[in-house]
Amino acid sequence: MQSSTAKEGDDAYQPEVGQAGKDVIWVPTPDSLVKAMLTTADVKPTDYVVDLGSGDGKIAIAAARDFGARSLGVEYNPEMVALARRNAQRAGVAGKANFIHGDIFETDFSSATVVTMYLLPSLNLKLRDTLLKMKPGTRIVSHAFTMGEWEPERTISTDDATGYFWIVPAQVAGRWAFEVGADRFAAELGQEFQKLSAARGGPIRDGAVKGTTVHLTRANGQELVGEVNGNQIVGRGWVATRIKPAG
Ligand SMILES: C[S@@+](CC[C@H](N)C(=O)[O-])C[C@H]1O[C@@H](n2cnc3c(N)ncnc32)[C@H](O)[C@@H]1O
Repeated sequence: MQSSTAKEGDDAYQPEVGQAGKDVIWVPTPDSLVKAMLTTADVKPTDYVVDLGSGDGKIAIAAARDFGARSLGVEYNPEMVALARRNAQRAGVAGKANFIHGDIFETDFSSATVVTMYLLPSLNLKLRDTLLKMKPGTRIVSHAFTMGEWEPERTISTDDATGYFWIVPAQVAGRWAFEVGADRFAAELGQEFQKLSAARGGPIRDGAVKGTTVHLTRANGQELVGEVNGNQIVGRGWVATRIKPAG
């Protein structure tokens, strides 16, 4: 993990970089990566950014101060929670960046539109199912650690650190009836994270889903792009209806 020699904290509390935390130690994300992570996630004033394991609050504070979002930090160490609240006050975003004392594995953060984290590979994997059940289109950014086989949409590199970016995919597995122009056909779509697959030799070759946007390639090479909403995918000149759920 990144280390820092700068003085941390304030007059009331000086945390030590590397100090123990419940499931992972505290090390702050460098400013340049905080900015790059929030920029990659395209954080807007309409967003609700939740930082899991928020430390001194710097990601949640930057989301509010520099991107105008509402934000929440969830942190198990109560002294860090108090420090983060003072930091938010000093940054002038006390009303917008909030902090709660809690365990990230016991806290409901399902209303977040952007989730940030700097944890550990094993903790990312422990969170993965919860993240995948969030609203399709929710953006996830992790400093340093990946999500196993769930491949990131993008890798974020700064001079001294790396982050990864994902978009929660809609669940589109199942059998779909397609109407593409005058063509009618059905195809079973398999899904692994954002990747879509179909039976060899069938009418659909493969595809991907990014949030609610579905990209499919037909066996004849035609590209289909549409928006999924429940059991319907609607594109320009084509529509598909799910006629059987997955499994
Ligand atoms: C590596 S630091 C990252 C801090 C901040 N997110 C950042 O990037 O600057 C991880 C933080 O998670 C906190 N933490 C560890 N386990 C936790 C848990 N189960 N619930 C909430 N916070 C936890 C630690 O106290 C520490 O502050």
